[in-house]
Amino acid sequence: MFGKYLGSVFVVCLLADILQTSSMNLTSPQRPRNGKVLSLFQIIQFQNGFCMGFGNRNGTCYTQGECEARDGSSVGTCANGFGVCCAFTLSCGQSTSENCTYLVQSSTSTIANPCTYTVCPANNNICRIRFDFTTFNINGPVTGSATATIPALTTAGGAIGDCATDIFTITAPGNFAPPVICGFNTGQHMIVDASRTMCNEAQFSLNGMGTREWDIKGKLEPKMAHEFHILKQLLLVTQYNCGDEQGGPDGCLQYFTGLTGTVSSFNFPTTSAIVDPTTTHLSSQMQTMCWRQEMNTCAICWIPVVLGSDTITGSFGLSVSKNKLPRGETDGLCSGDYLQIPNAQSNVETNADDTFVIGTIGSDVNLSDRICGRFFSSALDDAERQLSRSVCTQQRPFRMTFQSDGDEVTLTKVVTKNPANLNELNRIPGGIVGFNLRWTLQTCS
Ligand SMILES: *[C@@H]1O[C@H](CO)[C@@H](O)[C@H](O)[C@H]1NC(C)=O
Ligand SMILES: *[C@@H]1O[C@H](CO)[C@@H](O)[C@H](O)[C@H]1NC(C)=O
Ligand SMILES: *[C@@H]1O[C@H](CO)[C@@H](O)[C@H](O)[C@H]1NC(C)=O
Ligand SMILES: *[C@@H]1O[C@H](CO)[C@@H](O)[C@H](O)[C@H]1NC(C)=O
Repeated sequence: MFGKYLGSVFVVCLLADILQTSSMNLTSPQRPRNGKVLSLFQIIQFQNGFCMGFGNRNGTCYTQGECEARDGSSVGTCANGFGVCCAFTLSCGQSTSENCTYLVQSSTSTIANPCTYTVCPANNNICRIRFDFTTFNINGPVTGSATATIPALTTAGGAIGDCATDIFTITAPGNFAPPVICGFNTGQHMIVDASRTMCNEAQFSLNGMGTREWDIKGKLEPKMAHEFHILKQLLLVTQYNCGDEQGGPDGCLQYFTGLTGTVSSFNFPTTSAIVDPTTTHLSSQMQTMCWRQEMNTCAICWIPVVLGSDTITGSFGLSVSKNKLPRGETDGLCSGDYLQIPNAQSNVETNADDTFVIGTIGSDVNLSDRICGRFFSSALDDAERQLSRSVCTQQRPFRMTFQSDGDEVTLTKVVTKNPANLNELNRIPGGIVGFNLRWTLQTCS
């Protein structure tokens, strides 16, 4: 059994000598936990790979001694009991170069503000570092409120969507930094291009009011001293070697694999039952989302998610309509806030039957590159733009970019009607919503 085990490790090492391994001399005091008796001086070697632990923690397989030396904590066993599953947990102000590290709040008394976590490349061949926001909820941006009736005078267009109190940033030295975000971002992730020599800093800067709480081992503890809004954070940081496809292509802030899933703007209430009219996307965003082209797939389609009892129209809204009635807009009519989807086409044929045929471009379809407005559609027909549609592209690689500027369009004076073209708060869905889309890769025909 051990011969076999050593053999497989050996092959791995030959193929990729960058993979780290642990080795230990087994002498009589050191016995494997499963109690098997071994001959003296047998050297056990195993890969320092991913392992699943208990207590909602995963880690890296190391020897007990290595785990202690690296300041990790054992959350289980691995390598047939020869190793421990070593979990790494980072508090504000600390630094790590370990793969698979959790960023958490560790203190119940004081929270450093700003709270900075330093993540350094685990080796000199790291190209991508992924931050998974397992739990992420800080103060949100300045919100607007869209109404079906004439909204109260609002001149706050410059401020709406700005993270005015709490902010979260990740630095990416020598590379394009991710956008500044705030609010609810549980389930989101960001991947940054790593620098060969410098570390990345993930920072929470918390200046909002309210009661701050945070999540420690599943229990919420209120904080007394500085009053802040609810803060719960648990982030998982994973590092990927150059050439590891799981890290996603360079320049992609988000990377999705599989055949279907959802994707949203930051601060979208993805777990709520409805899209509240105050749902507000963040300003000054540049969010590049990329998809792996799975086997035998030739196109990708997106459609707004229906949240709970909400209607399909609720999960998309970016900027004003060209017309007084709310509708979807494309290309030249999208300038401030929009989704960029190269060669996008709506699922609309002459008979509007929602079919999308791979390898064709419908006779009444014009390919678009930008989508905005109050409905998600690139249909040509005006009526077809007054509801959300599935929008697809056959352009590869599959990617979409969300771009938003610093302002939302609001009015400086009340108008007697509430046309969707003058004010993003006029009409439902508002132009401040952002997006939450279900995506599906389409099988080649
Ligand atoms: C195992 O023992 C050999 C010979 O005593 C020594 O050279 C080596 O460093 C030891 N390895 C470990 C991992 O302790
Ligand atoms: C641990 O890994 C498993 C399997 O990949 C995953 O389902 C789970 O969400 C992970 N847990 C945490 C806390 O990262
Ligand atoms: C980090 O861990 C992940 C699994 O969680 C693994 O896929 C990846 O290859 C590891 N990165 C390095 C540099 O070992
Ligand atoms: C769609 O394309 C046709 C010709 O290819 C053009 O005449 C028409 O103006 C386009 N419509 C829009 C809305 O861009």
